[in-house]
Amino acid sequence: MQKPNANREKIIELLEHAGGVTEESVREVHQQTGIAEADIWGTGLFYTLLREPGKRIRLCDGLTCQMFGADSLANELTDAGKMVERVSCLGQCDLAPASLDEDMELVTYAKHQTAISPPNEFAMNLAGEVDLTYSALAKVRAMAPEDVISALESSGLQGRGGAGFPAHFKWTSVRQQSVTERYVICNADEAEPGTFKDRELILRQTHKMLEGLAIAAWVIEAKEIYIYIRGEYTNEYRAIERALGESKDALKEFEFTIVKGHGAYICGEETALLESLEGKRGMPRLKPPYPTESGFRGKPSLIHNVETIACVPSIIHRGGDWFRALGKTEAGSKLYCISGHVVAPGVYELPLGVSLDELVEAAGGYVGNPIAFSPGGASSGFLPITERDLPLDYKHLADAGSMLGSAGVVVINDTVDMAKAAAWQLEFFERESCGQCAPCRIGTQYIRRQVDQYVQLGDPASLEMTGDVGWEMEEGSICGLGMVAAKPLESARKHFPDAFKTRD
Ligand SMILES: Cc1cc2nc3c(=O)[nH]c(=O)nc-3n(C[C@H](O)[C@H](O)[C@H](O)COP(=O)(O)O)c2cc1C
Ligand code: SF4
Repeated sequence: MQKPNANREKIIELLEHAGGVTEESVREVHQQTGIAEADIWGTGLFYTLLREPGKRIRLCDGLTCQMFGADSLANELTDAGKMVERVSCLGQCDLAPASLDEDMELVTYAKHQTAISPPNEFAMNLAGEVDLTYSALAKVRAMAPEDVISALESSGLQGRGGAGFPAHFKWTSVRQQSVTERYVICNADEAEPGTFKDRELILRQTHKMLEGLAIAAWVIEAKEIYIYIRGEYTNEYRAIERALGESKDALKEFEFTIVKGHGAYICGEETALLESLEGKRGMPRLKPPYPTESGFRGKPSLIHNVETIACVPSIIHRGGDWFRALGKTEAGSKLYCISGHVVAPGVYELPLGVSLDELVEAAGGYVGNPIAFSPGGASSGFLPITERDLPLDYKHLADAGSMLGSAGVVVINDTVDMAKAAAWQLEFFERESCGQCAPCRIGTQYIRRQVDQYVQLGDPASLEMTGDVGWEMEEGSICGLGMVAAKPLESARKHFPDAFKTRD
C-alpha cells in the first residue's frame, strides 16, 4: 500500500535526478507524481542545489573561509574562466578555504589535514577502533525500555544539535503518545558556519550513530529510521551507505532511509527538516505541537543530532553515571570543532565545559594575537578573548549572552576587522532565512545592508536602527534563525566598539 503523500515526498529527489529545476524536469516530475507544476516549481526553487542546474564550482563563504581568503580565491577562479557560485557553508572550516568542484567533490586549499583527538576513553573516541558488534543493541533488547530511558536520564545527556534539551524527555514523550506509527530521525544536516563535528563522527564512527538510532527505534517502538544528511556531504553519505551494508544483519529489523538535503541551512531546524522530508519547502512549523507529538507525516517522531544519538551505545555499555562524570561543568564528553587562528584546526573530544584556552591547547595553540572567538557557530555571535576562561558549556555561555550551539568554535586574531566578521555572519543569515516571517526576511536584509554600508563608508549612522530591528527579529520570528540572526552584529558592537567608530 502506498504511504500517504508518497508522491509528494519524492519530488525533491526526482528533481535532483532530473538535474535540477528546469521546465522539462518540472513537467517530467508532474507527470510522474501528479503534483501541480506550480507547486513543484515552488518547492524546487527553495533549494539552492536544485535552483541553478549546471556545473559550477561552489565556493564557501563561511566566516573561516572568508578569514582565509575566499574572496581572492573566487577572483582567481573566475579569472581562470571557471563558473563560481558562492555558497553559505560547506562544513569544512578546518580546511578553509573550501569548495566543491563541478561534480560536487570536495576541494580544500589548506596545507594541513583535519586534526582529531588521539584515541581516548571518551564516548565518541573518534580515533578509536570501530565496534561492529552491536552489543549495546543486544544489551538493550534484554532491558525494559524504561530502564534505557533511566540510563539516559542519569547520564545527563543533552541534545548536541544546539538547544541542549535533555534527551530522555523526548524519548519519554514519544513513548507516551497513543499513536503507534512512530519515527526516528537523525539530523545530519550540519550547516552552521564553524561546525563540522558530525562530519568527522559520520566518517569515523558511523556505527555508533547507527547503533544509537537502532536503540532509539527499539525503545520507542519505531520501525523506520530516517537520516537527513546535507547534500554537500558526499563522502559522508557514502560512509553511511557503506556502514549500513556492513551492519545489515544486526539492523535487519529496521528500515533505514538516507535522505539528502539540497543546500538549505534552515532544514537543520527540526520542523523545517520534517517539511523537507515530506517533499515541501523547508519552512519551520509553529511549535507546539512538538515533533515528539506530531512530527514526520504527523506522527510522533524522535529527532536527534548525530552526536547525541551516537552517545547512546557508550551510555548503555558503561552506564549513565560514567557518561555524566566525563563532563567538567556539565554532563559528558563533547565534540568541539575549532577553526580559525589556531595551529591545528579540527574536532576535539573533551570534557563538556573546558575553557577556550584548554580547547586551543589541544589544538596546538593560538596563531597570532587572538582578540575574539565565536563559541558556537554563527548563531552564538562573538565573545572577546578576555572571556577565554569561560566554560564552553550550555549554561555559562547562555549566561554570557552567547550559546554553545553546535560547538563550532572559531578563533579570530587581530588581522580581522570585526565589522567585516559581523558582516560575513549576517550575510549567512540573510541568505539562509526561509522568508516565512517578515521580521526575519526583512530584518536580515536590512541589517546586512547597513553593516556593508558602514564597512564601505565608515559612518556609524548606518547602524543607528539596527538594534531596534534586531529586537523585532528576536521577538517576532518563528524559529531560532530569526531570533539570533542579529547577534553577530549586536555582540561585535558590544564587545568591540572601536571597530564601529567613524572611519576615514
Ligand atoms: C536554524 C536552525 C538550524 C539548526 N540546524 C541543526 C543542524 O544542522 N543539526 C542539528 O542536529 N540540529 C540543528 N538545529 C537544532 C534542531 O532544531 C533540533 O533541536 C535538533 O536536531 C534536536 O536534536 P538534539 O536534541 O539531539 O539536539 C537547528 C536549529 C535551528 C533553529
Ligand atoms: S525566523 Fe526566519 S528562518 Fe525562521 S521561520 Fe521565520 S523567516 Fe524562516
